[in-house]
Amino acid sequence: MCGIVGYVGKNDALPILMAGLTSLTYRGYDSAGVAVVNGTSMHVVKCAGKVGDLAARLDGTTITGTTGIGHTRWATHGEPSDVNAHPHTDSAGDFAVVHNGIFENSNELRERLRAQGCVIRSQTDTELFAHLVALNYDGSFEAAVKAALSQVTGAFALVVASRLHPGMLIAAKLDTPPLVVGIGADELFVASDISSLLRFTKRVVILEDGEMAVLTPKNVYVDLFRAEPVIGRRRPASERVLSVDWPADIAERGGYPHFMLKEIEEQPRAIRDTLRDRLLDDGRVLLEEFALPPSVIRRARRVLFLGCGTAFHAGLVGQYLFEPVLNVPVQVEVASEFRYRQPVVGPDDLVVAISQSGETADTVSAVRGVQERGATVVAITNVVGSTLSRIADHVLLTRAGPEIAVASTKAFTAQVVANHLLLMYLAQYRPHQHDKLLYQVGQGLRQLGDAVERVLARADAIKAFAERLAEHEDVYFIGRNLDEPIAREGSLKLKEISYIHSEAYAAGELKHGTLALLSPGTPVIAIATQSEIYEKMVSNVQEVLARKAWVTGLIADDDTELRGMLADSLVVPRVNDLLAPVPNVVALQLLAYHCGVARGCDIDQPRNLAKSVTVE
Ligand code: F6R
Repeated sequence: MCGIVGYVGKNDALPILMAGLTSLTYRGYDSAGVAVVNGTSMHVVKCAGKVGDLAARLDGTTITGTTGIGHTRWATHGEPSDVNAHPHTDSAGDFAVVHNGIFENSNELRERLRAQGCVIRSQTDTELFAHLVALNYDGSFEAAVKAALSQVTGAFALVVASRLHPGMLIAAKLDTPPLVVGIGADELFVASDISSLLRFTKRVVILEDGEMAVLTPKNVYVDLFRAEPVIGRRRPASERVLSVDWPADIAERGGYPHFMLKEIEEQPRAIRDTLRDRLLDDGRVLLEEFALPPSVIRRARRVLFLGCGTAFHAGLVGQYLFEPVLNVPVQVEVASEFRYRQPVVGPDDLVVAISQSGETADTVSAVRGVQERGATVVAITNVVGSTLSRIADHVLLTRAGPEIAVASTKAFTAQVVANHLLLMYLAQYRPHQHDKLLYQVGQGLRQLGDAVERVLARADAIKAFAERLAEHEDVYFIGRNLDEPIAREGSLKLKEISYIHSEAYAAGELKHGTLALLSPGTPVIAIATQSEIYEKMVSNVQEVLARKAWVTGLIADDDTELRGMLADSLVVPRVNDLLAPVPNVVALQLLAYHCGVARGCDIDQPRNLAKSVTVE
């Protein structure tokens, strides 16, 4: 949550900060602000609203200076307002702070600072840090920030600027929120993600937990502010420079009206990239970066999927895929609940943690918990260098490319495909009876990008249906077997993007209570692509039709039975049952998208949400 950007160099900081904030808006968008240092003065401008509101506030001002910090916020402590917007300063206005995360000891700090005479203006925990730096300052900026860092607890990333030290920024991070230093020619950048830096530099250093970086135009110096490294092995910053090979425009909208539509349409590529060089012609799966010992695979007594939101749904797909083939119990858990349940986990558990960002605090914490209990953790993540990728024992990267829209689309289909690869990989080391099925899945995976292209080609029909659905306020999704997690994901997408209330059920479960809510005309989307359970699904559809609900089928193109029975159907290409989640979800993503557009919603930045949830 929250986007941070900083610049120190030879150019005017403000346009660079604003460009960075625009790219980081997906991380939070309820208020925004900048602080620019020029000589010994510092200008702070901030307001409630989006980066565009900040730009309007700045219009007509002439703020120059070659050092600065900026922030776009997703509120945790204190409502979105001008006063709670970042940057926050100490009473004298000497130090300005932007911050992502939470100081867990903020209540106690607030009392202590008040007792010491500080006048605290905002409801945020961030402002307290600015006062702490000022109280610890005796001429050394670095020493003051380090001392302040020793007095806060929690998970956070922050950057501090000072009018007493123009030409210098200090950045620090602990636990989940990411912080990346970008290295240019006589200029340095710092930001919450790599993609916001791509237009300025492709050379980056990812800060590790407990590290503090001192940035001047020509140098970055990294120090520890916690005695014990929490994760990773440390090396001097100069040895840790990564060159990112993403094109500079990969995180741009490129003519699309919304990032979400662009990302939906990128799915054939994301799927093919995720499979590239991993699925061999003879049907074997080779995961070169992946050294999971066969002994761990053979001794696994359980596979445990962990994730949140859409990534949790990818875990549910994994459960339906893995359990029957590997003949091992598979459990799927919402990470935020799992870790507080004192779960029984041990060395014979193989944990698959799924996270697009690799920074979701709930997932990262749950992973740390299972690692303490001796489980082996495989991470499926989209972000190289993310916290999850660094703490996991083994990493299977999805290659979806940066996902900017808050609603996850291409990352989800890439996670599902990564599940297929992982299943085939694990099956190579465990006895099973499913060689033929897995061979067919391998063949189907090669055609999956084409199948998604065929769904995209039917976007106009989905749009026309969405425009009718958009007039309703309650929608139900039902499905069975692998269609059930897709019902959940379709429902989640619809809620986030169109604000239509929706619920998802295993189709056989509806009659155990929720059927009471259906009245004539209530929209129900029935996903019916699983051949083994198809007739049961048809019966469930009959139960709903008998209540005169408006049932629309999401069906395969060779389906005649439901197509004949229902007034409306969304048609997807027939693929192997185990692969059906992918074309099915793409149709539902388009449905949610077009409902959101029809209702005039903010597609890429739905209300109350943010992309990367780095607080628990
Ligand atoms: C929904 C969505 C969220 C995320 C969830 C986990 O469209 O994007 O539900 O899936 O916050 O995020 P990651 O995958 O980054 O851990």
